[in-house]
Amino acid sequence: MSMLTKLLLTDLVSGVNHVPSNYIRPLSDRPNLTEVGKSEGSNLIPVIDLQGLYGPNHSDLITQIGLACQDHGFFQVKNHGVPEKMIENVLQIAREFFRLPESERLKNYSDDPSKTTRLSTSFNVKTEKVSNWRDFLRLHCYPLQNYVHEWPTNPPSFREEVAEYCTSVRGLVLRLLSAISESLGLDRDYIDKQLGNHGQHMAMNYYPPCPEPELTYGLPGHTDPNLITILLQDDVPGLQVLHNGKWVAVNPIPNTFIINIGDQMQVISNDRYKSVLHRAVVNSNKERISIPTFYCPSPDALIGPAPELIDDEDNRPAVYRKFTYQEFYDKFWNRGLATECCLDMFKA
Ligand code: OGA
Ligand code: NI
Repeated sequence: MSMLTKLLLTDLVSGVNHVPSNYIRPLSDRPNLTEVGKSEGSNLIPVIDLQGLYGPNHSDLITQIGLACQDHGFFQVKNHGVPEKMIENVLQIAREFFRLPESERLKNYSDDPSKTTRLSTSFNVKTEKVSNWRDFLRLHCYPLQNYVHEWPTNPPSFREEVAEYCTSVRGLVLRLLSAISESLGLDRDYIDKQLGNHGQHMAMNYYPPCPEPELTYGLPGHTDPNLITILLQDDVPGLQVLHNGKWVAVNPIPNTFIINIGDQMQVISNDRYKSVLHRAVVNSNKERISIPTFYCPSPDALIGPAPELIDDEDNRPAVYRKFTYQEFYDKFWNRGLATECCLDMFKA
């Protein structure tokens, strides 16, 4: 097989000294890695200790979470209740999966975004002009019994370990949704009840080392189309968040998840909480793995600004019309990963 016919980046990169031309971004759209700030001082992406959520500091934590959602759209959590061992296991499974022989990995390959389990590359090979330095395995994981039979069986413990992880992360999501509802002054179960039967997807992102990281992205700047994302990253930096017009690197802290507000939360909160641009950059030395959990409404759920957060008299009209999550999701995948927020298509 010639190099150019490889379906996956992982199989194309070994021994490549230059970034192939279809991965090179135009000069006006490059990472400018030397200009990126660190998450510290006034750039700090807040680290919130969830230990106190059910104790005497409850209302202080709700305030911290609300401020983080409002000012950053991103925060990090520790003491989140997902066991350390489960985190180690899922990272190890992902590492082993991407090290499987090409023929074994390719059994899961598809470039059709509507497939509920698939291995693919870049972002959307059918719509994009420039490729991204990433392979990814994407899984639907809630309700688990609808999807687990589609998942890879290699490594042999894949289904068991990943299922445990998904279930535990879902518990964390539900605790966060309750806290975020409360921070908006809504009933604690308000957001939960807007999501129909709920949905949960997950990706295992694999970013191989890149000979020329200044020329390309792992993922270019984007917002997440779902409700809320729980990102687990390994110990290699790569995630950057736009804060006050500047890219800020969110460097890994062991046993800490990165939480970000997605487009649906921006809608429900009627723009109080922002779905913020973020991107993944690559480096020349080390492979990087990240595992985002995308929590979302079920396709039939009707999403719109919470009535309590709309006030036509007080200059807070509804910013968005109502739509089903299905409609939003279809538009999202068809337009490519453009920097312009997909939300603009749903303005009231
Ligand atoms: C994503 C994403 C960031 C990362 O998959 O939507 O933003 O660090 N990933 O991999
Ligand atoms: Ni993202």
